[in-house]
Amino acid sequence: MTASTVSAAPTAPTAPTRLRLTDRWGRTADDLRISLIDKCNLRCTYCMPAEGLPWLKKDELLTAEEAVRLADIGVRVLGVKDIRFTGGEPLVRKDLADIVRGVRTMHPEVSISITTNGIGLDKRIDELVDAGLTRVNVSLDTVDRETFARVTRRDRLPQVIAGLEAAKASGLEPVKVNAVAMRGVNDEGVVDLTTWCLDHGYQLRFIEQMPLDADHSWARKNLVSAAEIRQRLSTVYELTEDPVPRGSAPAQLWEVRPRGASPDSTALGKVGIIASVTESFCAACSRTRITADGRVRSCLFSQEETDLMGLLRGGADDEDVARTWATAMWGKPRAYGSDAVTLNDPEYVQPERTMSAIGG
Ligand code: GTP
Ligand code: 5AD
Ligand code: SF4
Repeated sequence: MTASTVSAAPTAPTAPTRLRLTDRWGRTADDLRISLIDKCNLRCTYCMPAEGLPWLKKDELLTAEEAVRLADIGVRVLGVKDIRFTGGEPLVRKDLADIVRGVRTMHPEVSISITTNGIGLDKRIDELVDAGLTRVNVSLDTVDRETFARVTRRDRLPQVIAGLEAAKASGLEPVKVNAVAMRGVNDEGVVDLTTWCLDHGYQLRFIEQMPLDADHSWARKNLVSAAEIRQRLSTVYELTEDPVPRGSAPAQLWEVRPRGASPDSTALGKVGIIASVTESFCAACSRTRITADGRVRSCLFSQEETDLMGLLRGGADDEDVARTWATAMWGKPRAYGSDAVTLNDPEYVQPERTMSAIGG
């Protein structure tokens, strides 16, 4: 017997103490959304009041280093696979490319995307791609200039379209467009917007409006539902469920063909519907959110948040931050901010933060 075989007595492999963002309901979050700022240069009626909101002060926002550190802890310690930077409007942060680069340098394999209103994207896309950005989603509810100005309270449609064109020209794909469906505002334009996006090669997703507006004017009776959107699209297009498995994505995708076309013919493209209210997808949710002031929100509709900023600034190590984050996620509600209530129930209590302060 050689010395080496003697010393090879079985020892337990040193299992890395890998935490995961699991919850009581058996879900694991690996999709991280970090809001970088609560400010925005638009005032979409379903999101913000005309006068804006009391913004966070600069020293209350995550710094670029803090945002990168949280993303790194998410990926390296907690198993996060996708990172999305949101706002408010993430392009309002001048250091957005530094943040993207910081994460990319540490994690070449992770997906890094942004959800933006597109304003100024044409001037920033090159530096963002160079920094390592993977993908862009742009919010655009209509291509009618007057309707755009009414929804966003700003006459800036041309800038958004310039941003979209720049995203397409950069080669990042798919470029997705998010449109909130609104009764009496853009519901009649569902087909037109779809045709426009198909013609320009953007993947459009309609979103059912959620009660996350500052004005608290959401009413179930005004909801433009996924079923209604499908019905409107079916007047012109043939929709076939996308064969690619949906996984935990909020959007159900549909292949789009001209009405009457064979399902074997080449599709014009895809359209998605995010049916947060009528066909909720909480059971498959894989998302964890950090607000611009460094708090974990386990759900878009959470009533509770867990502070990580205090830990970061108080000198906590990565393991402490990760454990606090994981504990917050363990308490994630089964659905919609409470374990029983749905968005349709009268007992539903809207969270204090609006969409702009959560990040979508
Ligand atoms: P990709 O498809 O990977 O590009 O990302 P995404 O669709 O998750 O990102 P995006 O920020 O574009 O999200 C689109 C919209 O889906 C958000 O603005 C929300 O309206 C909605 N959404 C995303 N996550 C959730 C969620 O966890 N719950 C609910 N109810 N809605 C969500
Ligand atoms: N309901 C649904 N989607 C919303 N968004 C903003 N507010 C709401 C709401 N009340 C969407 C925007 C953007 C993303 C960040 O969230 O259209 O695409
Ligand atoms: Fe700004 Fe997006 Fe809110 Fe519109 S929905 S005001 S673009 S944060």
